[in-house]
Amino acid sequence: MQQNMKLGVCYYPEHWPENVWVDDARRMAEMGLSRVRIGEFAWSRIEPEPGRYDWGWLDRAIETLHRQGLGIILGTPTATPPKWLVDRMPDMVALDEDGRPRGFGSRRHYCFSHQGYQAECDRIVMALAERYGEHPGIVAWQTDNEYGCHDSAVSYSPAAAEAFRYWLANRYETIGALNEAWGNVFWSMEYRTFAEIDLPNLTVTEANPAHWLDFRRFSSDQVVRFNRRQANILRACSPGRDIIHNFMGFFTQFDHHAVGADLDVASWDSYPLGFLEQFWFSEEEKRSYLRQGHPDIAAFHHDLYRGCQKHGRWSVMEQQPGPVNWARFNPAPLPGMVRLWTLEAMAHGAEMVSYFRWRQFPKAQEQMHAGLLRPDSVEDVGGGEARQAAADIAAIGDAGPPPKSVALLFDYAGDWVTQIQPQGRGFSALRMAFDYYSALRQCGFDVDIISPQADFAGYRMLIIPCCPIIGADVVERLRAFDGPVLIGPRSGSKTTNLSIPAELAPGGLQQLIPLKVTRVESLRDGVEEQGEGFAISRWLEHVESNLEPEIRLSNGRGIVWREGSVRYLAGHLDAALLRDVIGLMAGDADMVVEDLPSGVRTRRAGMLRFAFNYGTQAQQLSVPEGAELLLGSARIEAAGVTVWRE
Ligand code: GAL
Repeated sequence: MQQNMKLGVCYYPEHWPENVWVDDARRMAEMGLSRVRIGEFAWSRIEPEPGRYDWGWLDRAIETLHRQGLGIILGTPTATPPKWLVDRMPDMVALDEDGRPRGFGSRRHYCFSHQGYQAECDRIVMALAERYGEHPGIVAWQTDNEYGCHDSAVSYSPAAAEAFRYWLANRYETIGALNEAWGNVFWSMEYRTFAEIDLPNLTVTEANPAHWLDFRRFSSDQVVRFNRRQANILRACSPGRDIIHNFMGFFTQFDHHAVGADLDVASWDSYPLGFLEQFWFSEEEKRSYLRQGHPDIAAFHHDLYRGCQKHGRWSVMEQQPGPVNWARFNPAPLPGMVRLWTLEAMAHGAEMVSYFRWRQFPKAQEQMHAGLLRPDSVEDVGGGEARQAAADIAAIGDAGPPPKSVALLFDYAGDWVTQIQPQGRGFSALRMAFDYYSALRQCGFDVDIISPQADFAGYRMLIIPCCPIIGADVVERLRAFDGPVLIGPRSGSKTTNLSIPAELAPGGLQQLIPLKVTRVESLRDGVEEQGEGFAISRWLEHVESNLEPEIRLSNGRGIVWREGSVRYLAGHLDAALLRDVIGLMAGDADMVVEDLPSGVRTRRAGMLRFAFNYGTQAQQLSVPEGAELLLGSARIEAAGVTVWRE
């Protein structure tokens, strides 16, 4: 039986005098929190001088929290190597794309490929694991913090260059094979040895996209290896404790499926207002969802990261509690949103939501970032909502597991391809995945975002918004899938080495639907190709096929093609057409398309259905007659949550 979702908080005992710790711990427990994450930036306090550990304060902090019954998630401090360490090995810092060192004075100033730094990480992680690995208060470990944050998963350092050459030699075995795979005959880019290969930055114009793609793969592998080293040490010294890492939002610099394979729990840091402000959303969306976040941002990541852990175990490690400090503008959440975000994570199957952070620290970089408490220790709005959420979770009881319904395929290499070769400004596989996800959710569907390598069994519908590289094994499994499949533009358009497949796009997917993409066009903003009740913008493919198009543009050209239950979309679809196509597929799969009120989203968990109102107006839900309401009512207020048993 699944346990009720837990609430927690990120706490920095090193920021506060020891005499407030006891009261802090007591107040946490009283607020309904049972988890506390500590330690992930505390290296300079744990080891103030090389080799001299100061465990006293951390021993006492752990005891204090443990005595209140809080389960501790202990972070390894490797995201913040102290000054003495950087001074001892100055070449451990990453270099940016322009070749400049990423200096000391903030965080994440290390290169994943530096062997000396890796050895230092092994040492500090081992020291922590040996000291606290079997402490009864430690329930889990967090490795490092947000791999890749501040653009730090890639490094252009000499250490990275050396490791990259080694990685390439391993992959291609002979330099001839690499030259052939990359097409280096073009522009006389041929190499005679692996030792001649540099990183793809600092070239005059763009470097070979195949060179970039391998560099991105390599950089991702370095993150995987770095994490695995920590995970192995922790697993050996701290049996029975979960190993967790905290991923970020809209972030694809490394393959999260691969890192997730070494984790017991995938977690992520959810800042819906900051993400709305910083990412691609329209001005209108930014204004309408200013204090709520776009209704699909949090859910998208919940469903993505659940798919990054083999048993679907996931948590929110950091939940926005109020205004943050790092977006262009930092509004306060609408009253009720902190509670809504918390319960939404529960609906998507989270094991824990932990707020960032306990008390706003009045100094340094994040002094303007809210906590559950204000800097003067008075409970802030977020604190009150966490308390309310704790009561709601208890009232709802156990939510069952998320049901299998629609699977949306996303892979990280596919996103790297569209970043390396957008071919039209702003084209992004990640954004396509988000747009399709959003359209599906507006139809009331529950969506799992899964890797193409995941098992398709049990799903009723498969959606491939944009996966440029599709292996033969995936094609085989797609052929075996018994249900409607939707293939979006650019899927199957590249080989593993980022070249055009011999049979043209969609490559191996032609085994599912007989058509060829003979030409692609990207369109500047404001240019549209009209169809009946829809318009195509940004991306348009010319298709050759003996099939009759299922849907055409007004000029007669096909835009949606169908063979049996497989459909191909030859353009970047607008919301109206996407909804029509989803409707056609749902018809094939015997699924009901709903029309949710604006700003409302739902999620099923076991026998429960949750509804969330991200809008600023109250809305009427169609709760089935006889359903038992567990929370809220059929009239759902702005920032409201309604839960019923179906
Ligand atoms: C996260 C990070 C935290 C803190 C927070 C502020 O990205 O993990 O350490 O900086 O953002 O919103």
